[in-house]
Amino acid sequence: MEYSNTRVAEVAEALKKHFEGLNNKADILKATELKALYSEIPTLSPEERASFGKEVNILRGELEHMIASYKDKDEIRPAIDVTAPFNVNSPIDRRPKLIDTSLGSKHPLMTELERVLDILYRMGFTATESRQIDDDNHMFGMLNFPEGHPARDDYDTFMTTQTDKNGKQLIAPAHTSTMQNRLLQKHKPNLDKGRPIAVVIPGRVFRNEDLDARHEHTFYQLEGMYVDKGVHAGNLIATLKTFLQEYYEQDLEVRTQPFYFPFTEPSFEFVLSCPFCKKAGCSVCSQSGWIELLGCGMIHPNVLKMAGIDPNVYTGFAWGGGIDRLVMMKYNIEDIRHFESGKLDFLRQFS
Ligand code: DAH
Repeated sequence: MEYSNTRVAEVAEALKKHFEGLNNKADILKATELKALYSEIPTLSPEERASFGKEVNILRGELEHMIASYKDKDEIRPAIDVTAPFNVNSPIDRRPKLIDTSLGSKHPLMTELERVLDILYRMGFTATESRQIDDDNHMFGMLNFPEGHPARDDYDTFMTTQTDKNGKQLIAPAHTSTMQNRLLQKHKPNLDKGRPIAVVIPGRVFRNEDLDARHEHTFYQLEGMYVDKGVHAGNLIATLKTFLQEYYEQDLEVRTQPFYFPFTEPSFEFVLSCPFCKKAGCSVCSQSGWIELLGCGMIHPNVLKMAGIDPNVYTGFAWGGGIDRLVMMKYNIEDIRHFESGKLDFLRQFS
C-alpha cells in the first residue's frame, strides 16, 4: 500500500519492520506511533482531516490483515502420517527405537489423567468414568435440550443402527455431560446427609468432525459437578482456577465469558492466561496470550429437578472440557491426532 501522506507512510514502514520482531503480533495495534497518528486527527484542519483520517484507518486495516494472515500461517500444519510407524524393509539402524519394555508404556493421556485426578481427589472430588455408548435421553433430554432444538447440532456424533426402548438410535456420546443425570441421582443421598455432591467424570467422547490439528473424532473430556446449599459462580471460578494452577504448577489469570449451554444458566466459557508463554503470545495461544479452555456454568434448575433435587434448596456448578487440550497445552503438542495415531516416535517422548 502506498500512502500519499508522508507521516503515515513513515509510520507504516516503521511499524512493518517492528512487526517482524514482535512475539505477540497483536501488540502492533498498541504501538505508540499508531496512537500518535490517531491523536493528530482532531488537531488538523477539516480539509486535511478527511484524507489523513482515511489513510490512518487504511493503515490500521493493513496491520489487522497482517496479524490475521500470520495466525492463519501458524495454523496450517502438515497432515500427520498415520500409516505404519516405520518401513519394515529399512535397515535396523534406521528404524525408530522401540519402546524399551515389551509391554509398551502408559499412554501420555492416561499418565496426565492420573495427575489430574490426583489433584481433584485432594480437592474432595470422587471420579466415575463415563460410558462409551449412551442413549438420546441422557445425551439430550436430561440435559434440558428440547426436541428439535438447534443446540443439538453442536453435538454431531456417531450412532448405532441398534435402537433403545424408545426406538431411538444409541449414541457414541459427544460429551461427558451425558453422565450428569445418573451421577446427580446416585449421589443425591449425600445432600440428605448434609454433604455436597462433588464428582468428576473423565471419559472418551466422539464427534463427527472434519479432522485437523485441533479436531479429532475420538478424544477425552473431564466433566465436574458440585452441588450443595448456597453454591455460586464464585465457587466455580475458584475451583477451576485452583485446579488449573495445580496442574500447570504456576499462578494463572482467569476470565469468564458469557456462553450458551442448555444445561447451565448462566453459562460461561472459561478463559485462562496461556500457561506456555505466560501471556507473551505463542503458537499454543494463537498469539493472543489467552486460551478459551472449557465450558462451564451453574447447573440449570431443570437438570437438578430431573434428578430429583430441589433447585430452590440446592444449587451447583458444572464444567466440561477436553483432556487432550489440557495436555497439548502443557507440552506444546501441536497436533491432537498424535494421541490416537499410535506413532512410537510420539509415544516414546512420554515413556
Ligand atoms: N459438554 C459441553 C461440551 O462438550 C461442555 C460443558 C459445558 C460441560 C458446560 C458442562 C457445563 O458440565 O456445565 O461442549
